[in-house]
Amino acid sequence: MNSLGNVLYLSRAEIDTLKISMTEVINVVEEAFREKSKEKVETPPKPGVHPQKDAFIHAMPAYMPKMRVAGVKWVSGFPENPKRGLPYISGLLILNDVETGFPICVMDCTWITAKRTGAATAVAAKYLAREDSKTFGILGCGVQGRSNLEALITVCKNLEEVRAYDVNAENLGRYVEEMTIRHGVRVVPVNSPKKAVENCDIVVTAGPILKNPKPVIEASWFKDGGFACALDFDSYWKPEAMYSMDKFCTDDIEQLKYYRQQEYFRDIPEVYAELSEIISGKTHGRENSRERIMSMNLGLAIEDMATAKLIYEKAKKTGVGTKLPL
Ligand SMILES: NC(=O)c1ccc[n+]([C@@H]2O[C@H](COP(=O)([O-])OP(=O)(O)OC[C@H]3O[C@@H](n4cnc5c(N)ncnc54)[C@H](O)[C@@H]3O)[C@@H](O)[C@H]2O)c1
Repeated sequence: MNSLGNVLYLSRAEIDTLKISMTEVINVVEEAFREKSKEKVETPPKPGVHPQKDAFIHAMPAYMPKMRVAGVKWVSGFPENPKRGLPYISGLLILNDVETGFPICVMDCTWITAKRTGAATAVAAKYLAREDSKTFGILGCGVQGRSNLEALITVCKNLEEVRAYDVNAENLGRYVEEMTIRHGVRVVPVNSPKKAVENCDIVVTAGPILKNPKPVIEASWFKDGGFACALDFDSYWKPEAMYSMDKFCTDDIEQLKYYRQQEYFRDIPEVYAELSEIISGKTHGRENSRERIMSMNLGLAIEDMATAKLIYEKAKKTGVGTKLPL
């Protein structure tokens, strides 16, 4: 070690070897939302650069005093990547020591991005979906389609059937096969967005984020008593469908406002509450079995940092990773 110390580097494969469960991720993500409700966290809206159409590279910093974690995720999403045989999302995350500010860990951020986004959907579903939810509709059967199912199965104990839709038949086929084997639930491929929405108790949209969306989901497709979580902004839901919700929630109002300034979300309803307010009991989540509820989850750096801390501690304890001099 030199006088400036070391950083621990963790590759994606090394993070996989830590075998952190979805339950552990859900727990830390929920705790992060509770901390947010106390207004003691710093999680400024993510600035970004956009080298290609509908592509982004975002900086996502956060600090949470109670968890003693600070850092930044530098994450990109390039929609043309799958055509090159590359994943849509790539990036790195840096953790800093909260006393000295020194970087202590650099890690791949794709595992975190997949798991914490699914975990945030599951935390939202705990408070906003009906407890007896049985059917799950997923639109976009990629990384998020997988991790959102994994997370929802963890918290929604009555899930029996998944209705899966993807524009790419090969991706859809792989998803149905893999998820059926992995989770032991019925996974039914459907051939239209409508069939993945109608009569589903929980619906997640995880297609591409489009600056000029051409949404297709109609208000009438969505079931009374349903819970919807949009991960792809307003790309899939028609404004009238979003306005038909009894409660329209989000993970962060400031971030939603920021994106509106960037000309996303041109026509959305007023926000009922942030997830952190509902989770902490400051305001009500679901109040009856007929409410139509949506959460617009933009993705927060506090979710990343909470999960990164979990990874870092486990890696240190088990000696995983490579120490690099600063
Ligand atoms: N809100 C958040 O916190 C958050 C976090 C991570 C990713 N995301 C977003 O989630 C989305 C999915 O990310 P991913 O990593 O799973 O990508 P991915 O490339 O792994 O999967 C996307 C899937 O969607 C399919 N698809 C494309 N257009 C579609 C359409 N119109 N209808 C149905 N399916 C369609 C593709 O064929 C692919 O299978 C992206 O928009 C990404 O930006 C959001």
